Amino acid sequence: MKALVYHGPGKKTLQDRPMPVISAPGDAIVKMTQTTICGTDLHILKGDVPTCVPGRILGHEGVGIVHETGTGITAFKKGDHVLISCISACAICEACRKGMYSHCQSGGWILGNTIDGTQAEYVRIPHANTSLYKIPDDANEDALVMLSDILPTGFECGVLNGRVKPGSTVAIVGSGPIGLAALLTAQFYSPAQIIMIDTDETRLAVARRLGATGTIAVNGADTVKSIMMATNGQGVDTAIEAVGIPATFELCQEIVAVGGTIANVGVHGTKVDLHLERLWSRNIAITTRLVDTITTPMLLKTVETGKLDPLKLISHRFKLDDIQIAYDTFVRASETRALKVLIEV
Ligand SMILES: NC(=O)c1ccc[n+]([C@@H]2O[C@H](COP(=O)([O-])OP(=O)(O)OC[C@H]3O[C@@H](n4cnc5c(N)ncnc54)[C@H](O)[C@@H]3O)[C@@H](O)[C@H]2O)c1
Ligand SMILES: [Zn+2]
Ligand SMILES: [Zn+2]
Repeated sequence: MKALVYHGPGKKTLQDRPMPVISAPGDAIVKMTQTTICGTDLHILKGDVPTCVPGRILGHEGVGIVHETGTGITAFKKGDHVLISCISACAICEACRKGMYSHCQSGGWILGNTIDGTQAEYVRIPHANTSLYKIPDDANEDALVMLSDILPTGFECGVLNGRVKPGSTVAIVGSGPIGLAALLTAQFYSPAQIIMIDTDETRLAVARRLGATGTIAVNGADTVKSIMMATNGQGVDTAIEAVGIPATFELCQEIVAVGGTIANVGVHGTKVDLHLERLWSRNIAITTRLVDTITTPMLLKTVETGKLDPLKLISHRFKLDDIQIAYDTFVRASETRALKVLIEV
């Protein structure tokens, strides 16, 4: 089968690999139909994720058709259309019982990281009973690819942890796919203001189309001033960090209102200063989270009923044979205006 294989920082090739095989009763083999590329795949290619070793098939998102099931699979049968969660979860260990699938003791984020992933013709899914979701017959499968990772991430790590409420004021720092997923799902709660912040004007234009009430292009110290002006000098009730660099987490600390919440979503590779000398008296909360994907069934329903339209996040489409071009397009997002690139297998 064809698969995109990681060979160390900066190196990947589309090559022939043996078909995956069932290795535990809880496994299923899924024939991929659509996959996509995540910002996290780019982190791997930069060498930022040491758990992902050369020889690994990349990818942790996608939809497909069940091809083979282990003896322990009761929830699915050959031929079922399924959504693959980026998080594999046993659902019975201590972490899973607490709703923290991302910290499952025999799962978590392993796909395309510590085991072979979804940018291939076939993939082995461990704990398949509780890591796959049945796709309704009439569903738009392209849209559902956005439910593998980015929508649960924006919603759980940003909106839920950030305690977005009706009438509240929200700033989302970073208008990439994750920030935009937080923008779409924050609207479930009717906040009064959602201000999107980015360095890239093109992405801010997308944010305005997707429901941002205001956008601010990052411009040094003026960024804080602009946010304060937009919020009557109060700052925001929820500041969602969706970039993953020190400057943006520091910005969140400057714009959070008294009693507010900073919800960190970004993956950080370097240390960041925490300004407790200023924040200690301001009754704020700071949250961090690796996406658990426990809201996937709920998000599936919102897509089914048209409350959420993930197709808005897809900018380009490629075939698996052209996956190298897909990566190049995704990497050069500011020139190519890429958001999520869909890859048909
Ligand atoms: N916590 C989790 O479980 C989880 C899951 C998936 C992804 N992530 C992380 O979320 C982050 C966002 O993911 P993405 O796929 O949207 O990434 P992305 O790189 O596509 O988007 C980041 C956006 O931030 C903008 N940006 C860069 N510098 C900025 C600055 N100084 N100020 C404001 N905006 C700036 C970029 O223009 C871009 O639009 C990444 O760090 C990713 O690794 C976390
Ligand atoms: Zn991802
Ligand atoms: Zn578990």
